[in-house]
Amino acid sequence: MSLKKEIINDSVPKHIAIIMDGNGRWAKKRNQSRDYGHKAGKESVNKIVEACAELEIKNLTLFAFSTENWNRPTLEIDFLMKLLLLSLNKELKSLNKNNIRFKTIGNLEKLPKKVTSYLKKVAKETQDNNKMTLTLALNYGAREEIVNAIQVIGDKVKNNLISLKNIDESVINQHLYTHYLPDVDLLIRTSGEKRISNFLLWQIAYAELYFTKKLWPDFSKEDLYKAIVNYQKRERRFGKTSEQIN
Ligand code: IPE
Ligand code: IPE
Ligand code: MG
Repeated sequence: MSLKKEIINDSVPKHIAIIMDGNGRWAKKRNQSRDYGHKAGKESVNKIVEACAELEIKNLTLFAFSTENWNRPTLEIDFLMKLLLLSLNKELKSLNKNNIRFKTIGNLEKLPKKVTSYLKKVAKETQDNNKMTLTLALNYGAREEIVNAIQVIGDKVKNNLISLKNIDESVINQHLYTHYLPDVDLLIRTSGEKRISNFLLWQIAYAELYFTKKLWPDFSKEDLYKAIVNYQKRERRFGKTSEQIN
């Protein structure tokens, strides 16, 4: 029996973020190359995007490549970039067909030129879609994002475009890569690791965290439903008492 029926439709998370981890271990268990695992991970992305759209989740953000992932072997990085290019090429049509807006967060300038220009093309050609926003975090690091925001804000202060006393949380929000997104409601990490790995540090301030041992290529729609059902059973108090909520 599917857990989908247990999901309360009018209180699904507005923003789900996922640290898609475990491709390498998934492949190793099968005596295959890490690249094979990444290819399988791509199939999971398709399924989970589809499931989120079906559930009318408005925002899905996927961690695809971190600022730290440059430390991996060059051949693996090359493969990931190729896979990304191939996938964008293949999925552009279906993003439009399914009314999904595509965005990226992270510093795109360091990615291969071909990849950067294709990312921009897909973002542009899907910009008016409004069923769901799918954001890929690429060369993304939360600390880099915060440093970048501080530099831009500092520059504006220097040029009298913002005054120091007006800097508040909303000004900082507006200068993060995620300025168009609401805070994360539910953060999922697969593969059994219980860490954040420099993902969305500011935006997860009050997110519910969900860790599963499932490796990313094995993470199914049913696993997503399970995470959402679990999320919906939690009491989000935001500092208040339980009595104040109920
Ligand atoms: C996640 O899987 C994908 C990326 C970070 C690009 P991993 O490649 O980290 O898989 P493990 O953690 O080695 O199993
Ligand atoms: C986090 O996974 C980054 C992505 C999922 C893209 P990693 O596998 O790189 O994280 P660590 O290094 O094990 O923390
Ligand atoms: Mg990993």
